Amino acid sequence: IKKVEAIPVAMYGGRHHVTMLPGGGIGPELMGYVKEVFKYAGAPVDFEVVDIGDENSDLDYALTSIKRNGVAIKGNIETKSESASVVSRNVAIRNELDLYVNILHCKSYPGVPARQKDIDIVIIRQNTEGEYAMLEHESVDGVVESMKVVTESNSDRVARFAFEYAKKNGRKRVTTIHKANIMKLSDGLFLETSRRVAKDYPEIEHNDMIIDNCCMQLVSKPHQFDVMIMTNLYGSIVSNVVCGLIGGAGLLSGKNYGDHYAIFEPGTRNTGTAIAGKNIANPIAMLSASVDMLNHLGHVQHAELIQRAIEKTICEDKIHTPDLGGSARSTDVVQRIIDHILQADIRPW
Ligand code: NAI
Repeated sequence: IKKVEAIPVAMYGGRHHVTMLPGGGIGPELMGYVKEVFKYAGAPVDFEVVDIGDENSDLDYALTSIKRNGVAIKGNIETKSESASVVSRNVAIRNELDLYVNILHCKSYPGVPARQKDIDIVIIRQNTEGEYAMLEHESVDGVVESMKVVTESNSDRVARFAFEYAKKNGRKRVTTIHKANIMKLSDGLFLETSRRVAKDYPEIEHNDMIIDNCCMQLVSKPHQFDVMIMTNLYGSIVSNVVCGLIGGAGLLSGKNYGDHYAIFEPGTRNTGTAIAGKNIANPIAMLSASVDMLNHLGHVQHAELIQRAIEKTICEDKIHTPDLGGSARSTDVVQRIIDHILQADIRPW
């Protein structure tokens, strides 16, 4: 975590420069809301918008921009080809920037209809290897092999990140999620590494759970979980399960960290293509990602101003888009957030 705090960020004339990757589907409209809210909150951030199309040069430019700025906010980038030789640009960005950890803080919003209430779980996911190694090939006709890569070094830094996070944030327990009973070498290494790292943190309880049981426990008794660590694909699935319990894809944000760069995005990383352009997408996940980004940049008062406006809008006023069972349009939610910002008694400036 110390390393994360040391990430360099671009700042010119007192304003931060951040790369914005709108991506496909609902990404562009959600980014428009972020810009609008930042304008009214007076957030000292300028965006360098990079649209990633099908050209490889687009991806190169995005990477150059993030390396220059240190920080990005991102929607999901669509990779249309189904060919194994065309890699997901989302995965390519995370790998190229070595964003080895993804953090999803799944905290219930009071007042939002949900299957489970009062959830407060932190999912910490290995973000660059495992089942996302993208090493697949057809060895002979009709036989496909897919490599799941687990390394001790990456398992070690994810586990260490999780225990440091737990220590810093007053969390009590870290649970390693795995399938080491079947994947004895790969998940076995991940589990053993986390057990070894746990010994350096005697004040934090450590236990482990098999992924299958974990999914059942999450939907039936989710309150037993505190901080969870897991490999890449389990992380994606478990994140989606918990987001579903709390209120769906439109609410929570996720953070991607490496030793040098940080990317903020909606927690479930969906494209939302089917609802794009209809003014019904929930803007909260992307706005929460922008709040995370402001906190990361040190603009804590602006972050708090926007966060409070979000909470008032969805918990007290209950201005909810259809995914939360409401009938508000995306722009109704954003407008109410802006109204709260304008009426706030605490101003960062
Ligand atoms: P999707 O984009 O269809 O979304 C799943 C559901 O959540 C849909 O019903 C959608 O309407 C809803 N939803 C998503 N965001 C919402 C919002 N802000 N407000 C209200 N409802 C919202 O997801 P799907 O089918 O899983 O994936 C679509 C594409 O995204 C695929 O190409 C997939 O590969 C990619 N994807 C990439 C991920 C990554 O890690 N890069 C993770 C998940 C999906």
